[in-house]
Amino acid sequence: MTCVLVTGGAGFIGANFLYFLRQEHPDWHLLNLDLLTYAGNLESLSGFQDDARYTFVRGDIADRALVEDLFTRYPITRVVHFAAESHVDRSILDPGVFVRTNVIGTHTLLEAARQAWKDPAAASSCRFLHVSTDEVYGSLGPGDPPVTETAPYAPRSPYAASKAGADFLARAYFHTYGLPVLVTNCTNNYGPYQFPEKLIPFCLCQALEGKPIPIYGQGTNVRDWLFVEDHCQALAQVLEQGRVGETYNIGGLSEMANLDVVRLLLDSLQELRPGLGDLTRLITLVPDRPGHDWRYALNIDKIQAQLGWRPRVTLAAGLKRTIAWYLSHQDWLDRVRSQVYRDFLQQQYGARVTGKGGPKP
Ligand code: NAD
Ligand code: TYD
Repeated sequence: MTCVLVTGGAGFIGANFLYFLRQEHPDWHLLNLDLLTYAGNLESLSGFQDDARYTFVRGDIADRALVEDLFTRYPITRVVHFAAESHVDRSILDPGVFVRTNVIGTHTLLEAARQAWKDPAAASSCRFLHVSTDEVYGSLGPGDPPVTETAPYAPRSPYAASKAGADFLARAYFHTYGLPVLVTNCTNNYGPYQFPEKLIPFCLCQALEGKPIPIYGQGTNVRDWLFVEDHCQALAQVLEQGRVGETYNIGGLSEMANLDVVRLLLDSLQELRPGLGDLTRLITLVPDRPGHDWRYALNIDKIQAQLGWRPRVTLAAGLKRTIAWYLSHQDWLDRVRSQVYRDFLQQQYGARVTGKGGPKP
């Protein structure tokens, strides 16, 4: 039986991926290592209760003894590495934990895999998929073409810099030790189970409560949006069919300015839940994020040509599915919005969004 170690499986993409993988490979043993930070939520994985092919281990990817022990106790031949600190705004408030988890944690996993897969014959049937971001390529201008996998790295936030460091380590372990590493860089994901600090679920929550929707700067920054189910499909294909040592860009072919994304979200919400009134009145322009990258966009020709993958879900359709999911999972939403969540909003936005006094850092 194939045993796959998924790190960060209690987070947004990790949880979606675990459900996806179970459907794709019902006979695989899924081992989920997650520290359960503010972003990790076991409730997202309630569908795995009593599933004998699933094991949850609470722990830190930077804990060398724990990670080595997992490789000793389980016959792991696949690693899909999601665990990370993932929110740019938090990296601006507290960069240290990003370096620890994203760089040191990734190194710890690579090192443990290298030890466990020392025998070249065994290593040839193993794969380590490191999940990364488009943000490592830096900010694009309006006329720049979407970046390919060979573009130079130019990270500009502490989050992006820590992910770039992790990517370089992953690539180095392939070149130096022959570790069967694959790297993927994807654009902004959205969909079920996303922690409601990120743009789409955050704006949705604010709209449902009739609270201000804070848009940084003029709302002209452009992101490409990838429905998480499309992303999971791409990852599953790269894991099994990708060429080791290579990098694959994964994008949604849905570039849009933030203000337009939010307007589309609000229009769809009004359609699905009429009677909320004119929601665009809630849009509030707030001071920009420091060093806010203007645009990200990925060229996905490589994964299309090599693996035949392309995104299937349009932004309009994906937003509708996302909204419908959140509307029918109000309990999940209420429980993830803990005191820690409220403290972050207070520190990040102050009175503008929470209604309570407080400084904007
Ligand atoms: P997330 O923040 O929702 O989840 C991260 C998970 O990692 C959480 O369950 C958390 O508890 C766990 N974790 C954090 N630190 C840990 C540690 N030290 N040890 C073990 N577990 C730890 O993140 P996400 O949005 O699901 O992103 C998953 C991966 O995809 C990340 O590597 C991120 O950089 C990358 N990515 C995400 C996006 C996006 O739009 N969400 C875009 C590009 C790349
Ligand atoms: P985010 O979801 O934090 O992802 P990232 O910064 O990693 O792309 O933000 C997406 C875009 O939305 C980004 O340009 C910042 C912007 N944004 C706002 O304008 N207001 C907000 O409250 C948030 C959370 C993000």
